[in-house]
Amino acid sequence: MTALALKVNGTLHRLEIDGETPLLWALRDHLKLTGTKFGCGAALCGACTVFVDGSPVRSCARPVSSVTEAEVTTIEGVTGREAAAVQRAWIARDVPQCGYCQSGQIMSAIALLKAKPMPNEADVDEAMSGNLCRCATYQRIRDAIHDAAIALQVQP
Ligand code: FES
Ligand code: FES
Repeated sequence: MTALALKVNGTLHRLEIDGETPLLWALRDHLKLTGTKFGCGAALCGACTVFVDGSPVRSCARPVSSVTEAEVTTIEGVTGREAAAVQRAWIARDVPQCGYCQSGQIMSAIALLKAKPMPNEADVDEAMSGNLCRCATYQRIRDAIHDAAIALQVQP
């Protein structure tokens, strides 16, 4: 066990934790931020997606010791115009089914819209290809991303 400092959603936390522990478990077990989900544990499904310094990463595959100098943002703390537009579009399209994959989907969608404000189909497919959904909500996710992009153009 080591004492590590971890900044999550703007708050600095001190954790007694093995530095090799995946960031996902630091978030869920130590900080009780359970919005970030465990799916595969092997960087294959996207359920555990969070931002590290604004970029989407698979928190199941990131040792917590590698992010001690970084700003970590989870689904509980993500803010900004893209996040607000995605949230509205997800609700309007009634995107989730069981919901398990959705925080990861939403984090990836926000990252996409920050990088490409008006993504085409290929952009969406590429950005979202690492986020799996066992309920196959893919078409609603695509539609919601396009809705959010249009909303962001109309209300800059
Ligand atoms: S749980 Fe991290 S990618 Fe699947
Ligand atoms: S909504 Fe059920 S896994 Fe995606």
